Amino acid sequence: MTPILETEDLVKIYKVGKVETHALRGVSLSVNKGEFVAIMGQSGCGKSTLLHLLGGLLSPTSGRILIDGEDISNISDAKRTDIRRRKIGFVFQRFNLFPTLTADGNLKLAERIHQGNGKGDAAKRRETLKLLKLENKMDNKPLELSGGEQQRVALARAVINSPAIILADEPTGNLDTENSEIVLDMFNELNQRFGQTIIMITHNPEAARHCSRIIYMRDGHIVEE
Ligand SMILES: Nc1ncnc2c1ncn2[C@@H]1O[C@H](COP(=O)(O)OP(=O)(O)O)[C@@H](O)[C@H]1O
Ligand SMILES: [Mg+2]
Repeated sequence: MTPILETEDLVKIYKVGKVETHALRGVSLSVNKGEFVAIMGQSGCGKSTLLHLLGGLLSPTSGRILIDGEDISNISDAKRTDIRRRKIGFVFQRFNLFPTLTADGNLKLAERIHQGNGKGDAAKRRETLKLLKLENKMDNKPLELSGGEQQRVALARAVINSPAIILADEPTGNLDTENSEIVLDMFNELNQRFGQTIIMITHNPEAARHCSRIIYMRDGHIVEE
């Protein structure tokens, strides 16, 4: 079986002025379809960098990244963006919702970006918001939602186009227990019912317990599984 995500000796060095930061020092990783992976490790060890590389948001300094067997490390930005739109849903710790659009409008925008110019699917949006207990908040704009609700809208947006891979950077980092549970239940449901592959960075051992595999990082390396 081809892994859905694979990296080979991934290195990322950031340069700011004359200062170099070795964020990843050779990460080789293989994730199969349907895995639910947690990435843990201290702040600054390279977790977000790895996730951004996996999702094609950054290019590596060296090494390879394969999505469904397709090498995305040396292709054009346009092609990388296309693969990302078709296959990947991102959830960030900051929600990045459009402030002028309602919850439903934010989902609709994600659908339109995905489909080119399609009209979207109102029933599917309603269903997705309902799964996240947001059926009464469809017409609220981000400022009219609590932090937990905003994160749930961001999660709905990440999954509305049924991406094969969901990449989540501390999705429960800013949430109280109740909201964290709603988010984690949703991940479990997507993982188990639809076989979506999920990679989630978390500091919370309780959240990591939902996962089928835990990867620990330190100083730009994977140190333990
Ligand atoms: N855009 C950037 N430019 C320069 N340095 C960065 C950038 N992003 C992250 N870093 C540095 O790279 C290292 C790894 O960061 P990051 O991947 O965000 O770690 P983590 O998510 O584990 O906290 C840190 O030392 C951080 O300061
Ligand atoms: Mg981070």
